[in-house]
Amino acid sequence: MEKRIWWKQAVGYEIYPQTFADSNNDGIGDLPGITSKLNYLKMLGIDLIWICPFLKSPMDDNGYDIADYYCVNPLFGTNDDLKELIKQAHALGIHIIMDFVLNHTSDENAWFIEARKNKQAEEHDYYIWQPPRYDEKGNRQPPNNWRGFFSDSAWAYDEVADEYYMRIFSKKMPDLNWENPLLRKKIYAIARHYLDLGIDGFRLDAIAHLARDLSFANSTQNPDYDGLTLDVSKFSNRERLFDYLHEFKKAVLEDYPLAMTVGEVGGSSTTLTALKYSHKDYGSINMVFNFDTCWENGAYGSETLRDDQIITNVWNLKHNFARWYNDCHRDAWLPLYWVNHDHPRVLSQYGNVAFRKESGKMLALVLLFMYGTPFLYQGEELGMSNVDYQSLDDFTSDVSARNYILDARKRGLNDELILRFLRRTSRINSRTPMQWKNAPYAGFSLVPPRIKPVNNYQEVNAEDEIKDPDSIFNFYRQAIALRKDMAILDSVTMSDFVLENEDDPNVFAYRHPGKKHLFVVANFRPYQVNFSSDFLGRKHHTLLQNYLEPSAIRDGNQVSLRPFECFLWEIEDN
Ligand code: GLC
Ligand code: CA
Repeated sequence: MEKRIWWKQAVGYEIYPQTFADSNNDGIGDLPGITSKLNYLKMLGIDLIWICPFLKSPMDDNGYDIADYYCVNPLFGTNDDLKELIKQAHALGIHIIMDFVLNHTSDENAWFIEARKNKQAEEHDYYIWQPPRYDEKGNRQPPNNWRGFFSDSAWAYDEVADEYYMRIFSKKMPDLNWENPLLRKKIYAIARHYLDLGIDGFRLDAIAHLARDLSFANSTQNPDYDGLTLDVSKFSNRERLFDYLHEFKKAVLEDYPLAMTVGEVGGSSTTLTALKYSHKDYGSINMVFNFDTCWENGAYGSETLRDDQIITNVWNLKHNFARWYNDCHRDAWLPLYWVNHDHPRVLSQYGNVAFRKESGKMLALVLLFMYGTPFLYQGEELGMSNVDYQSLDDFTSDVSARNYILDARKRGLNDELILRFLRRTSRINSRTPMQWKNAPYAGFSLVPPRIKPVNNYQEVNAEDEIKDPDSIFNFYRQAIALRKDMAILDSVTMSDFVLENEDDPNVFAYRHPGKKHLFVVANFRPYQVNFSSDFLGRKHHTLLQNYLEPSAIRDGNQVSLRPFECFLWEIEDN
């Protein structure tokens, strides 16, 4: 039997520090806040937390713009607070992985300050510089037509250097030049520093972009209205980056065999590419996040669609999970997640606020019994949902939303449509304060948080849900405890994952025909649907379900499922 590796058995939980827990009531979540909630996480069954960036940052992109890799952001606490958090988490058996941003820094990082000041400085070449182009009228233009991920050009002009620097995110986030070996050494030293401090591994931010097309040739894709185009082939999943990652593995990871690594590779990675990162024999990291299962309700790119046109494509959703499993599980491990801090809330995405309890529980069940390491996103266990904001101003703490609003207005979209689109897709949806109790600001803080809470904490909050045996929170708790049962975990992670009645357009059903034969059935619709499967007629016992009374099985193979009804059975094979 395969050696038991801690992170293959763990249930993970992503924390967005700014809005998780605020220990000193200044409106900003912080590290002591996280420490104070470790018992809450333990009670839920979590033994791995991924904390989004908490190092010193001007917060242009909420901490993904790092100004000092060796210093905790004073907004979030001190270096000693970090040590204390690690100590207390470990005492409870909770591992911590930190978000490691290595594609770019803040423009306020000492490296960049030196780089722009002095072209002779070593640091100049830590970044990617190109001279301006000039059009026929003599106007200065970026070096090429590449668009970045936050709507505008992939370049920003620096007056001092009189050159453009590459920045595929915001202009305050200059991209690092991974071709420079001195820079790579600096990055490895940072990684070693945190592993030596007791950090258990990394979520490697934006890792797909470390290598770029260094010819900087224009994209030949059809440009958009402004002459730019987002051509990910120019800076995503390029061959050269695997050399960097192998070096990182040799220089750092091999000395820390227990550390876990999960890379963010975005939506442009195929399963084949994923194996290049995470193959158990020739990959460099343990697993990768891609987003093939995150937007299957068509919300992304839905600017002109009405709300009632946003419908989950259940067929695609389950087949995407199955495809990643089938292509990868022999050779690579997978993370499992509905969403992260860059997405809207899954309850609004694939569930339904009118059926909060039913759909919140259903989403827990479907996710937690698939192959891989699950990562819940903070608040998912409470059934938190998208924002109810009525003004575009409420979205402006996010640089991507700010840029999107500018761009959408230029394209002639009216504010009402922009607001509707942001409420549906914005990353702010997942970044609202944790709803700890039925109290002002959701009990997150005594003062107004920087990101406004959603106004449903009267019903959706941790304090009340912990007490209510029928809550989403307690359903998660039960489901996690079941998953951690060794016999169940073995079936989940070591026997096959097979879709059942795979062409059914409404129901996501799967089996693990292992020593324990597990059968999950879940209706993804807010209405009653019929489902058939021969396994419905089999002798079984129910391990978990989200309605008190099970639905009656007809003719041995038919069931009529109520809105979002789900169950987990153990089938008795003999
Ligand atoms: C990743 C992060 C996102 C951030 C970006 C730039 O995609 O998840 O939040 O804005 O990288 O660091
Ligand atoms: Ca605080």
